[in-house]
Amino acid sequence: MEKRLEGKVAIVTGAGQTPGDTIGNGRAISVLFARAGAKVMAVDHNLSSAQETQRMIIEEGGESFAFEADVTSARDCQKIAEACAERYGCIDILVNNVGTGGEALGPVKLKEEDWERIYNVNVKSVFLTCKHVIPYMEKQGGGAIVNISSIASVCASPMLAYKTSKAAVNSFTHAIAFMYAPKGIRANTIMPGFMNTPMAIEGISRLRGIDKKELIKERSSMVPLKGGMGTGWDTAYAALFLASDEAKFITGALLPVDGGQSARVG
Ligand SMILES: NC(=O)c1ccc[n+]([C@@H]2O[C@H](COP(=O)([O-])OP(=O)(O)OC[C@H]3O[C@@H](n4cnc5c(N)ncnc54)[C@H](O)[C@@H]3O)[C@@H](O)[C@H]2O)c1
Repeated sequence: MEKRLEGKVAIVTGAGQTPGDTIGNGRAISVLFARAGAKVMAVDHNLSSAQETQRMIIEEGGESFAFEADVTSARDCQKIAEACAERYGCIDILVNNVGTGGEALGPVKLKEEDWERIYNVNVKSVFLTCKHVIPYMEKQGGGAIVNISSIASVCASPMLAYKTSKAAVNSFTHAIAFMYAPKGIRANTIMPGFMNTPMAIEGISRLRGIDKKELIKERSSMVPLKGGMGTGWDTAYAALFLASDEAKFITGALLPVDGGQSARVG
């Protein structure tokens, strides 16, 4: 594979994954970045899952280390940045991939604690990692941040807290892209659509009490592009482009990776 990230150091949060039959976004991003030549710090609050990602990378001849951290904790986010700089000497790329969904609930039924948990995981985490990583990028004279939002942020979605928190991620990306453009730090967002990842399939089938095959069929039928749902690799290839120097003139972009779902009219 072409070494599009040769010499770069990347932090990927949520680099483990929900157990299941397919690959998650964070794991696919980590593996693909390593194949492209990056050294990858695989961060997850589930250490054994991050270690599994590290093992996959090392088996392919890449470079990675697993790191246990909760990205909703300011102290842990500081440790992520310090540990990466100590181990690899710099931080070129930050991928904020951690995210959580929750149930399809509106304001009446959604519990306050669930709203807070979803916002902590989806939004506060992005603020905290940026807070601690950006100073390193500033010192180096540049960097690339890729945030993983969701197409739910711009399409109709019954998951109120998830939808609005991911819209906040889009807005956060716009804000920092503009603020740090003079420093050479780019920030872009990927908005995945219906993806066949374990969090979506295993997670939602459990939540709704429906068969996985049925759910896969249902989600695939909602994707306009032939072939049905996307995969973690589709998210990963978009992240690879946005993190690489090929995207050096791109900042503040919100990129749908959704098989045309957001282009649907009516
Ligand atoms: N799968 C989809 O269909 C889909 C669609 C749109 C957007 N997304 C977004 O893609 C991202 C990844 O989704 P995925 O399907 O690969 O999920 P996943 O559950 O497989 O991966 C998420 C990882 O984040 C880790 N994590 C969760 N909370 C954490 C915390 N506080 N600190 C550190 N690690 C934590 C989990 O342990 C897990 O390994 C999420 O932001 C999600 O919202 C997914």
